[in-house]
Amino acid sequence: MNAAELLKVVTAYWSAQAVLTGTRLGLFDVLTDHSRDLRTLARITRCDARALDQLLHALVALGLVKKRGDRFRLTAQAAPLLSSKSSRNLLPLLQIHHDRFADWAKLSRVVRRGKPLPAVGLFVKPVARTRRFIDAMEAMARHGAHGLVEAANLSGRRHLLDVGGGSGAYSIALCRAYPSLKATILDLPGTLTFTRKYVREAGMLDRISFLAGDYHSLEFRKEYDAILVSHILHSIGPKACQALLTRLSRALRRDGVLLVREFFLDRSRTRSTWPALFSLNMLLWTAEGRTYSWYEVETWLRRAGLRRFRRASVPLHEGEGLLTATR
Ligand SMILES: C[S@@+](CC[C@H](N)C(=O)[O-])C[C@H]1O[C@@H](n2cnc3c(N)ncnc32)[C@H](O)[C@@H]1O
Repeated sequence: MNAAELLKVVTAYWSAQAVLTGTRLGLFDVLTDHSRDLRTLARITRCDARALDQLLHALVALGLVKKRGDRFRLTAQAAPLLSSKSSRNLLPLLQIHHDRFADWAKLSRVVRRGKPLPAVGLFVKPVARTRRFIDAMEAMARHGAHGLVEAANLSGRRHLLDVGGGSGAYSIALCRAYPSLKATILDLPGTLTFTRKYVREAGMLDRISFLAGDYHSLEFRKEYDAILVSHILHSIGPKACQALLTRLSRALRRDGVLLVREFFLDRSRTRSTWPALFSLNMLLWTAEGRTYSWYEVETWLRRAGLRRFRRASVPLHEGEGLLTATR
């Protein structure tokens, strides 16, 4: 890495803050339907005009906003991602990144002590921060569900268990793709409050049921021929991963499939930039969470009695993949 590349890396947070500040100020909705001049934008967003002028020009330089004459508007590519009117907007996810920005500045403390930041108690109660997190998962799924459905072959399968199913987006997408499939979403009670809302809105309450419980301790019944574990393993340590996958494997009927969706590292853990950085994200907030390589997860699945591994890339983020194994 040369000096210019290093400086680009260490100032990457400037770009992030420019975009997240636009989100925080509600700027993007104001820039969606009309092009507007600085004075109007400053009035609507209640910002200082000189400061807003600089933010707007940075957003133009980043390619999210275009400037014609003295008027600004979101680019055609950015509008579906940044306008709250768009069903594919990523604003809930950007909001989470904004909320967590300050915590990333505490990474040195966490690395020195080896202990995560104090837990914020997500998922157990249906509080606002649980809703914000599940809305962010849903926003991500609206971009990722299509790739997962393409990569997962559930032909002939009848009952899917979606472990830590979050907003339910993947169960919904898979049930839509496979009309004879029904799904059970297992999650903690706080999350399930919001899951039910999404499933109801999708008109899927007749095909999708809910199971409130803790995946570390729940006794799984042997009634599934497909199990999805999407973005779960990175929250827990290697021993807990092995234990969970072994118990899930036992809940599979003969020839059942287990699908693990993760941000996978390469085997040496040295070449997968985004999954390696996401591992730091998990270091900040969990006692043992981290990202894992395809090889590590395959090893656990093999020990759990599964075979016939298939790797597929399902990228929204770099390194995102789906590992399928059969009982
Ligand atoms: C990162 S989200 C992934 C959600 C979803 N699978 C997806 O890929 O969008 C983690 C999910 O696991 C759930 N969860 C966390 N700990 C759990 C536990 N001990 N038992 C059951 N669910 C849990 C959370 O409520 C949340 O819905």
